[in-house]
Amino acid sequence: MNGGDGTFSYAKNSCYQREAVDAAKRMLTDAILEKFAMEGCFPFGCFSPTVRIADFGCSVGPNTFRAVENIMEAIELKHKTTTEQNPKTLEFQVFFNDLSNNDFNTLFTTLPTSRRYFAAGVPGSFHAQLFPKATIHLAHSSYALHWLSRVPNEVVDRNSPIWNKGRVHYTGNAEMVAVYSDQFKRDMAAFLSSRAEEIVEGGLLLLLLPACEDGVLPSETCASLQFGLFGSCLVDMAKMGMINEEKVDDFNLPLYYTSPRELRDVIEANGEFEMESMESFNPYVVEDLPDLPKLAKHFRAAVEGLLARHFGSQINVGELFRRYVDKMAANLGIFDFHKTSREFLIFACLKRKVPSD
Ligand SMILES: C[S@@+](CC[C@H](N)C(=O)[O-])C[C@H]1O[C@@H](n2cnc3c(N)ncnc32)[C@H](O)[C@@H]1O
Repeated sequence: MNGGDGTFSYAKNSCYQREAVDAAKRMLTDAILEKFAMEGCFPFGCFSPTVRIADFGCSVGPNTFRAVENIMEAIELKHKTTTEQNPKTLEFQVFFNDLSNNDFNTLFTTLPTSRRYFAAGVPGSFHAQLFPKATIHLAHSSYALHWLSRVPNEVVDRNSPIWNKGRVHYTGNAEMVAVYSDQFKRDMAAFLSSRAEEIVEGGLLLLLLPACEDGVLPSETCASLQFGLFGSCLVDMAKMGMINEEKVDDFNLPLYYTSPRELRDVIEANGEFEMESMESFNPYVVEDLPDLPKLAKHFRAAVEGLLARHFGSQINVGELFRRYVDKMAANLGIFDFHKTSREFLIFACLKRKVPSD
């Protein structure tokens, strides 16, 4: 994600993700009130209970701060309503996790001054263990698990039958969807096994991620069609000699939209968590004429780093995104797909089972 707080920063271009965090607040609060085991924070003889919360894939803020506030509010409410008399004051320790190239400086310098928690940054991939065994009471992740750890090999291998020449994302081709899906399942399995180590027995894992209906073709979703238009802008620029064609052929977005059934299957196969609830919802108001420059800036805030690493200084990112706005304007029909219920967000509440060993 773009760091800092400039015009193209994630901090200034993540209101869609923020709307998702806000819309999930009711589900998150209900999940905590109904399922969070306060006893996990009160080890025997504990004088001052500390609740340890981790947000995985936090980026630079401010959305992560909002999510953390929502979580703390719900835990305090639960604490007040379930502790009969003189409830001990809770202390909160919040860990903000993201990849080590995340702009943690911006995260730290914009931490809310009125915060009531001890904050720490935790760099590293959430596909590996990041905390000691059984130390986290509540883990949260929003809008991050659809980022794959890598683009599947078959898509970038020139000798592969599904080499994705001239496109940047999977299309209706079932084999290509299958390799992306396999990568997602491997990543998600690694994420769940790592969190299973870190989360205390009875602790919660709350997930918010974009998804689509079971069995829907990518060519029937607005997100995929937008990626298609974006890829065609890169191809146009290669044809005009503005970027290298081979580089375009090698570029793919490591993004995958799971489905409720697929996510449920990965969680069941992992076996370490009880699925307490899973809801699909769509927080977005469907506009007939979407704000295209705003959409493009959001996408730019998310992928500019990837583009810079792949194409280096040869790419004119401003020109690319101007073309992208024009392409979307010429293809407004793709936004009709928003009016279907094929794309949505999933909110899932998982509870750490009693460890088997
Ligand atoms: C779209 S941002 C979401 C940020 C924030 N949670 C929100 O809701 O606005 C996705 C974040 O996930 C992070 N991310 C992606 N893969 C990751 C990984 N393997 N480990 C840790 N963070 C990761 C990205 O670096 C990025 O900051």
